[in-house]
Amino acid sequence: MFKTSDGELTVTHDDQDYTFPTVTGTEGDVGVDISRLRGDHKKITLDYGFANTAACRSSITYVNGETGELRYRGYRIEDLAAKATFPEVAYLLINGELPTKVELEEYEAELRGHTLLNEEMKAMFDAFPRGAHPMGILSAATAAMSTFYERYHDPRDEESVKESTVRLMAKLPTVASFAYKKSIGQPYMYPRNDLDYSSNFLYMMFGLPVEPYEIDPVVARALDVLLILHADHEQNCSTSTVRLVGSSEANLFASVAGGMNALWGPLHGGANSAVIAMLTQIDQDGGDVDKYVAKAKDKDDPFRLMGFGHRVYKNFDPRATILKDFAADVLERLGVNDPLLNIALKLEEHALTDDYFVERKLYPNVDFYSGMIFRSLGFPVRMFTVLFAIGRLPGWMAQWKEMIEDPNTRIGRPRQVYAGYQEREYTAVDER
Ligand code: MLT
Repeated sequence: MFKTSDGELTVTHDDQDYTFPTVTGTEGDVGVDISRLRGDHKKITLDYGFANTAACRSSITYVNGETGELRYRGYRIEDLAAKATFPEVAYLLINGELPTKVELEEYEAELRGHTLLNEEMKAMFDAFPRGAHPMGILSAATAAMSTFYERYHDPRDEESVKESTVRLMAKLPTVASFAYKKSIGQPYMYPRNDLDYSSNFLYMMFGLPVEPYEIDPVVARALDVLLILHADHEQNCSTSTVRLVGSSEANLFASVAGGMNALWGPLHGGANSAVIAMLTQIDQDGGDVDKYVAKAKDKDDPFRLMGFGHRVYKNFDPRATILKDFAADVLERLGVNDPLLNIALKLEEHALTDDYFVERKLYPNVDFYSGMIFRSLGFPVRMFTVLFAIGRLPGWMAQWKEMIEDPNTRIGRPRQVYAGYQEREYTAVDER
């Protein structure tokens, strides 16, 4: 039995009362602080997937799953996507406030000053097999970067943390483009520091040393908006990984590399590629959307719809709402006529009108639309999760920094409910 009073929650179990303090956030979320449960009562909580567990207090990102709201440092995602640039949002997430004009210029100049990779790193890219997945290269190269910046490893040294965040932010597009160029056997393109963040990345991705590359401003702005929409999402799987790795006081590069590996999975950042694979499968099978909707509803069929539903959002994902209109606009402005778009639109219609989807809250999420736009901008499917990682980087770094600065932080060390054998006698190998 649960009973709440101001600042406390009492649970009665086997006629014993257990009283815990509660913590109320600025938007009214109530957390029950059970940190003394084991110490005082020899009991622990069991919460698969941490669906009901807050692991920290955070002032960075607010998500309201019921109303479909997302804010970075209090600013609505709709406003940031419409008015800000990606470096501006990165500054906001990491430093807590929007930069002034001068601060933004200084930050962008700092980023431009660190876009190059150490030449010795090139040998590392060469060592991967042709066709290696760029996410594997990205996380390996990010971890490897820590070996070039050992002087910045101290998480308690403010200046070192600042230098690491700037370097990671400046160099990740270069790493990502080298990973891509390696995978297709083209020469690595060095950054161009006269370009803005997204334009420079496009240049390194799609440019060639033998001919000029013209940046399409529609593509550059679309990329910037996509990066903004991915920049943070409170305690998701990869961010929690970054915090967990960092809680051991591992350096920022190592912690972020851990987050990248978590992001790679198809249930997280890998979902945007999985959506395109699913749409391609439906297209190649004749484009019969109804057939695949029936398969998705059949619990004995292994087919799974990708890009629908979300652990936190219960009505709609505000990033998807922004992207839905944005996708139509970008595709029209670029003159893209993609057969997968028609399939995506039919699936979307089912999701919004069919009782099966409505009851289960299976509405299209951010990954459903982002893949379509990344594709129309010319990015190959295997780069989609890398793009997510570039977008998420400021969020990972802001969360890591907040975790390090929080005096309540302890090394992450969950407990378990042991469900194995009780003590038993060892038998020698020839007696088994
Ligand atoms: C994200 O942006 O990280 C995803 O929507 C997943 C999540 O929040 O759990």
